[in-house]
Amino acid sequence: METIRGKMSHTLDLTTLRARLANYPCATLDLGTGDGKFAFCHAESFPGRFVIGLDSCRENLHEFSRAKLPNLLYVIASAQALPNELGGLISHVTINFPWGSLLGSLLTGDPLLLRGLESALRLGATMELRLNGGALAEAGWSLEDGVEQIRRNLARAGWRMNPPVPMDARALHTFPSTWAKRLAFGRDPRAIQLSGCS
Ligand SMILES: C[S@@+](CC[C@H](N)C(=O)[O-])C[C@H]1O[C@@H](n2cnc3c(N)ncnc32)[C@H](O)[C@@H]1O
Repeated sequence: METIRGKMSHTLDLTTLRARLANYPCATLDLGTGDGKFAFCHAESFPGRFVIGLDSCRENLHEFSRAKLPNLLYVIASAQALPNELGGLISHVTINFPWGSLLGSLLTGDPLLLRGLESALRLGATMELRLNGGALAEAGWSLEDGVEQIRRNLARAGWRMNPPVPMDARALHTFPSTWAKRLAFGRDPRAIQLSGCS
């Protein structure tokens, strides 16, 4: 699979990936990681977990992917075509403020995303998903209806989802991702957090 550090991309094979993960009992996958800030903060806060930030767009990843944390890796891939190397490795998935085709796939229950994710997961894996009003409005949904639709799709795919939890401007401001900060100071600082387990 294609990984990135700064502006350089490298191919990482399964053997090397497994060797890097060997001493970590938990691996988090941050889907649609953007500039990778959340993945970086997560890896720094939890040195006992391995963190993989994945995004289809490489340009935003140049800064945080320079970080030399042993438990952090950035991957360039589409969420609908997750690398086979991730198969059965992931114990926790985060998706923060998705837009574009990632949000679209959550809204339609796209099997390319949901089945791909299932293949990447370990038994009993958990998920945290944060959805914002502006992105859902652009996709033609109200925040509440969009969240409910995604919750239903995840439940159909076998996830046991908890009730939604609102995030206000303050919660967004303190959340460690670049997009959360933008939203906190933007026109529509509303988001909803979903969590669940597989
Ligand atoms: C609004 S940004 C959020 C970035 C980051 N999670 C944050 O909180 O700062 C949404 C990200 O989803 C990524 N994305 C959208 N569709 C994707 C897909 N199909 N596969 C992978 N990444 C995708 C975009 O490239 C973008 O970086």
